[in-house]
Amino acid sequence: MTPRRALVFSVASAAAALGGATALAHALQVRAAARSHELPPWTPLPAPAGLTPAELRDTGRKLFLNSCAHCHGKDARGDEGPDLHALDVSDRRIATVVRRGIKGEMPSFAKKLSPADTAALIAYLRTLE
Ligand code: HEC
Repeated sequence: MTPRRALVFSVASAAAALGGATALAHALQVRAAARSHELPPWTPLPAPAGLTPAELRDTGRKLFLNSCAHCHGKDARGDEGPDLHALDVSDRRIATVVRRGIKGEMPSFAKKLSPADTAALIAYLRTLE
């Protein structure tokens, strides 16, 4: 290699390395940005198919009476668990609490209730104002 060629070559490879570093920095930035949002995007749970809104709420009410009423009260006015009227939490939060439970407070219903059941429950809880 002539000195001139060697120079061109080293400039080119330095530029390539810099480009690589920039791409890496960008990738890391994108990852950091994704992590800085506490929660990944949430898609609302699929409601059971073929139900009118009223049927959906009735389904939710039955599930509530079977699974939740002994702690939250038949009328959801609260007992061992809190009153669930006018809940000031997101659908996502309700879905998470139902799925995971609350340690030492409320059991997980992940095995008992499907996502469609949970969607019906949420529809019912939203009627409690
Ligand atoms: C064993 C009793 C028990 C059962 C059964 C139960 N819960 Fe709870 N739940 C609790 C208690 C206790 C709390 C309050 C926990 C706290 O404040 O830390 C609670 C809290 C909640 C909250 C409020 C969460 C928040 O972030 O404010 C929701 C919503 C809820 N329960 C929904 C349900 C639903 C729906 C069911 C039925 C699928 C259910 N619970 C079954 C005891 C229960």
